[in-house]
Amino acid sequence: MKIPTKLALAAAALALISGGAYAASASDNWDNSCASCHGSDGKAQTKTGKKLKIKDYTDAAVQAQLKDDEMIKSITEGIKGDNGKEKMKSFKDELSADEIKDLVGFIRKFKA
Ligand code: HEC
Repeated sequence: MKIPTKLALAAAALALISGGAYAASASDNWDNSCASCHGSDGKAQTKTGKKLKIKDYTDAAVQAQLKDDEMIKSITEGIKGDNGKEKMKSFKDELSADEIKDLVGFIRKFKA
């Protein structure tokens, strides 16, 4: 069983080298974790999106108001409304810092 062992080792080494390659892509993460509220197209024309008055990320004016570091903070820590009630949950237990950064880049691409 020499060859399979070598192959397994090679695969393990490759996985180590490529690092984040096994993390989900930003578009998969968006569809799985964000689209239910923000919409797959970023327009937030979902039931929850309308109810919570979520901004339309294809709107250039909305994009201009968003700051990358605040977006990262909101996704990582979540967002609470004025009444202290959670509007968007924290994703720090589900997504890595790299995945969150990729999502910010993904959101930027919604801009028309
Ligand atoms: C339960 C519904 C819900 C889900 C799921 C959700 N969000 Fe949100 N999100 C909101 C609400 C509500 C706001 C605040 C209203 C607004 O800014 O439009 C918000 C705001 C944001 C903002 C703006 C933060 C800022 O700095 O103003 C970003 C960026 C964002 N969400 C990204 C994401 C990403 C990425 C995901 C998935 C990992 C996600 N959201 C999942 C409801 C949600």
